[in-house]
Amino acid sequence: MQQMTQLSSLAASKPLSVGSEIKVNNVSKSYGADNFAKEVVHNCSFTIDRGKLTVMIGPSGCGKSTLIRLVAGFERPTSGTITIDDKPVTGPGVDRLVVFQETALFPWMTTYDNIMYGPRARNEDTAEMRGFAETLLQKVGLSAFRKKYPSQLSGGMQRRAELARSMINKPNVMILDEPFRGLDAMTKKLMQEYYANLYNEFRRTTFFVTTDIDEAIYLADRILIMTNIPTRVRAVIDVNLPRPRQVENVVESDEANAIKMQALGLLHEEAMKSFARGSKAAADFIDAYSKRVGKQ
Ligand SMILES: Nc1ncnc2c1ncn2[C@@H]1O[C@H](COP(=O)(O)OP(=O)(O)OP(=O)(O)O)[C@@H](O)[C@H]1O
Ligand SMILES: [Mg+2]
Repeated sequence: MQQMTQLSSLAASKPLSVGSEIKVNNVSKSYGADNFAKEVVHNCSFTIDRGKLTVMIGPSGCGKSTLIRLVAGFERPTSGTITIDDKPVTGPGVDRLVVFQETALFPWMTTYDNIMYGPRARNEDTAEMRGFAETLLQKVGLSAFRKKYPSQLSGGMQRRAELARSMINKPNVMILDEPFRGLDAMTKKLMQEYYANLYNEFRRTTFFVTTDIDEAIYLADRILIMTNIPTRVRAVIDVNLPRPRQVENVVESDEANAIKMQALGLLHEEAMKSFARGSKAAADFIDAYSKRVGKQ
């Protein structure tokens, strides 16, 4: 009951759209020097709107994780600028939280202690934070697993604990690099639902990378379709499906299906270019695409 009160008071106090605005302006990134330089990102520009969930999708190996590292401030662009609320990104910051595919939970801490790690590190082990931790445990379905260690949790539970551990710090920007990659289909669907609920509740600015078009359409306010390497934005598609969304409704929606066909068409063209350069991942995508289109 107490939890419910905290939940509703949190919901009532939050503005609908919060977080920062990210602008990527004419960014290029090369690795290696001179004749050995390999350009991974080419003159790339896009905006991630405040409080919106922007999903980047592109062919495997096109440079998505490179862009994530640039926005997170782990690496610097070769040219161009990245700003967060008009301030240049010059390094990592506590305003940005990155969730990668690999789990980053501390194995020696329980679920609860992992979630409370950030507040405790800031000396904020307050009643309010403990209440927020309870809310998050409940939201990600881990209340009964609060005393378990990461090794006692399934892969999906670990990912949920990690989401809660990030959300408790109320970052201005959430950055997620294929956080559900490698999970089985059923767990992945559940994760998407948990994650969509968290987003609906807290509305932080989110930059989410995936290679899964269904995941992109289910989650996104806006989809950035990326080109083959060296990558840049090939197309921007706004997804205006009402929230909260049900996976089943999205699958049946004509609008979602139109977006899917448009996106798959563009991704197919980009994968063809990689294929022409001998990429196995691109060949696999084209194979899967041909089977899917053949079924329509
Ligand atoms: N530090 C680095 N030094 C040299 N090359 C790099 C470095 N980081 C990435 N690359 C190259 O950049 C290209 C894009 O890599 P990146 O990981 O950004 O792609 P991606 O789109 O995230 O791929 P995936 O879909 O497999 O996750 C790859 O060819 C990779 O070899
Ligand atoms: Mg990647």
